Amino acid sequence: MRWRSPCRPLLLLSFLTLLVGRETVSGFRICSYNVQKFNLQKASNYRLVNTLTRVVYRCDICLLMDVVDPTGQAIETLMSTINRESYRYDNYVYKSVSSNGLGNSKDGKQKYVFIYRTQTVNVTDQHQYETKPPTFFREPFAVKFQSRKTTIKKFILVPVHTEPTQAVQEIDHLYDVFEKVSKKWNNTNVMFLGDFQAACAHMTRLDKKKIRLFTNSNFSWLIGDKVDTTVSEDTNCAYDRIVVYGKTFLKAITPFSAKVYDIGKQLKIRKSKVKEISDHYPVEVKLKSSALLLQATPLLLLLLAHFFL
Ligand SMILES: *[C@@H]1O[C@H](CO)[C@@H](O)[C@H](O)[C@H]1NC(C)=O
Ligand SMILES: *[C@@H]1O[C@H](CO)[C@@H](O)[C@H](O)[C@H]1NC(C)=O
Ligand SMILES: *[C@@H]1O[C@H](CO)[C@@H](O)[C@H](O)[C@H]1NC(C)=O
Repeated sequence: MRWRSPCRPLLLLSFLTLLVGRETVSGFRICSYNVQKFNLQKASNYRLVNTLTRVVYRCDICLLMDVVDPTGQAIETLMSTINRESYRYDNYVYKSVSSNGLGNSKDGKQKYVFIYRTQTVNVTDQHQYETKPPTFFREPFAVKFQSRKTTIKKFILVPVHTEPTQAVQEIDHLYDVFEKVSKKWNNTNVMFLGDFQAACAHMTRLDKKKIRLFTNSNFSWLIGDKVDTTVSEDTNCAYDRIVVYGKTFLKAITPFSAKVYDIGKQLKIRKSKVKEISDHYPVEVKLKSSALLLQATPLLLLLLAHFFL
């Protein structure tokens, strides 16, 4: 038997990697960021917005919460910067979908805002969860997405920013939200994400017994209890979380991709500057990309042909 030079398969392999491309290989990223009272004043701070956009550009869908924007001007300003500067990155066109102002905090009503790439994902429906009397301080705002780029295709994202004093009850009530939205859309591919305050003084290990998102094994907590989602050196709390329902969703997620995005370290920015945006870090997770297989298939065939013909 005659061995071919090892150089040619290697060459082909790098050619394959090149064609499939960085973007496709990187999968579909979903991010969640508590931007701590993001208002018009913050949206007008050039340096702050410049850093924030660098976070948003990494994500196919980026959830911002604690957006205090009664007129909508803050998000409008942010979106116009994002779309004006996106040529520096991947040239995607971004859109946003927002809830109404929720809660009645003295700091102002907060919105949940999803910013998404129009080339990779569509919003197909939205639903404001409500009960009387309200069970949440800021009721979750469910959004249904559809993407050809992910293996899962259709999924529901449900953000929540809990009130610290009733975090345990609110996280438990997410189970009712799951029942409501999965029935409404006949789809159990539900992901909860946001600032659950699910750590330190607000949720202890004992509290977990009272939370159906823990006691029901169909829910997977992708950001663990030991993770620190706070910027400060003095706190070490896994406040921000990502939870998915069911095996189907779990299988559609890139293993070990759920993590905190340490803005300071990754973008080489001082902590004091990071804190200008928020005292939280973003958390993120990747969905497996369907395009990877699709685009790679002809090339794999080529590679096989090279070996066997
Ligand atoms: C978004 O929806 C449009 C219209 O249904 C469709 O043509 C397009 O492929 C969808 N985009 C993605 C990224 O799934
Ligand atoms: C709900 O979804 C399941 C599986 O995707 C499907 O078999 C069923 O027909 C759907 N039911 C309705 C009422 O659309
Ligand atoms: C988990 O999901 C499966 C399939 O949907 C269901 O049959 C089962 O009852 C669920 N388990 C719990 C504890 O709810």
